[in-house]
Amino acid sequence: MNIKNVTIAGSGVLGYQIAFQTAFHGFNVTVYDINDEVLEKAKSRFNTLSEAYKTDLNATQEQLDQTFKNLSYTSDLKEAVKDADLVIESVPENPSIKIDFYKKLAAVAPQKTIFASNSSTMLPSKFAESTGRPTKFAALHFANEIWKHNTAEIMGHPGTDPEVFDTLVAFAKSIGMVALPLQKEQPGYIVNSLLVPLLGAALDLLVRGVADVQTIDKTWMVATGAPTGPFAILDVVGITTAYNINKMEAEKTGDSGKQQVVNYLKENFIDKGKLGVASGEGFYTYPNPSFKKADFLK
Ligand SMILES: NC(=O)c1ccc[n+]([C@@H]2O[C@H](COP(=O)([O-])OP(=O)(O)OC[C@H]3O[C@@H](n4cnc5c(N)ncnc54)[C@H](O)[C@@H]3O)[C@@H](O)[C@H]2O)c1
Repeated sequence: MNIKNVTIAGSGVLGYQIAFQTAFHGFNVTVYDINDEVLEKAKSRFNTLSEAYKTDLNATQEQLDQTFKNLSYTSDLKEAVKDADLVIESVPENPSIKIDFYKKLAAVAPQKTIFASNSSTMLPSKFAESTGRPTKFAALHFANEIWKHNTAEIMGHPGTDPEVFDTLVAFAKSIGMVALPLQKEQPGYIVNSLLVPLLGAALDLLVRGVADVQTIDKTWMVATGAPTGPFAILDVVGITTAYNINKMEAEKTGDSGKQQVVNYLKENFIDKGKLGVASGEGFYTYPNPSFKKADFLK
């Protein structure tokens, strides 16, 4: 299956990055969102993003000019998908919004169009039926700062056509991603199946008073050779996300340890506006966190 025209639905935090990365690699990209005002916001963010492509990827002005030429915008769904080979859905992480979107999309997309979901926490089997074309549907999951953290996890549901799956793997590679195929459905894919328990264990050690932030990070860095420890990662992910994940887990399991973590994050971080790298302070202060100093590992 040949992919040339790609529609990105949802131009928020991840959607606009997927759109720009795909256009940068020469595909015709249509950006779709609920109204023109939101699309204008995405457009203005592309200018900032193109600066990051210059700094981080040594992108030339010519490449970036071509990228902008490859991008078009519409808030009309039918128009957005009229010749799409692939639609990448990056609408909010809310099951009813997604189901409603897939139903509307199914009604207007051509038969040839493959649908892919960028959902971080929901399995493709949850939406397969609403797409009206379960064989042509799978998850294609990107990470924040896609141009630098270039993982693309491809995860089908039991009804995904293997040829569609392979097309998504090839497409991911063609937009500069490291393609990571999963053989079966897994909540959290590979990245979060590894990361969430690591970050949870670090918070547990801290809250139970086993060791302080620096000692825990130092242990991980020296023992495994990793460039950062779990608390530095938590600052990148954002304390709000960590708080929400732990809160959901505490509510679901009634685990008192998790509840302690939730209370700790709320009192010491959320209530004080210390939300991680984005707010300039979390477990470390930015732009020059102590774990980057030469003597941190001594
Ligand atoms: N933020 C992350 O770090 C991250 C990382 C990987 C995957 N994701 C996934 O990407 C998806 C989007 O997350 P986000 O953080 O970009 O969210 P976001 O809230 O920043 O963006 C969502 C966008 O979708 C638009 N939207 C809302 N309803 C819509 C509809 N019916 N049709 C089209 N567009 C609609 C909104 O206007 C907004 O522009 C989620 O499934 C999330 O799990 C997010």
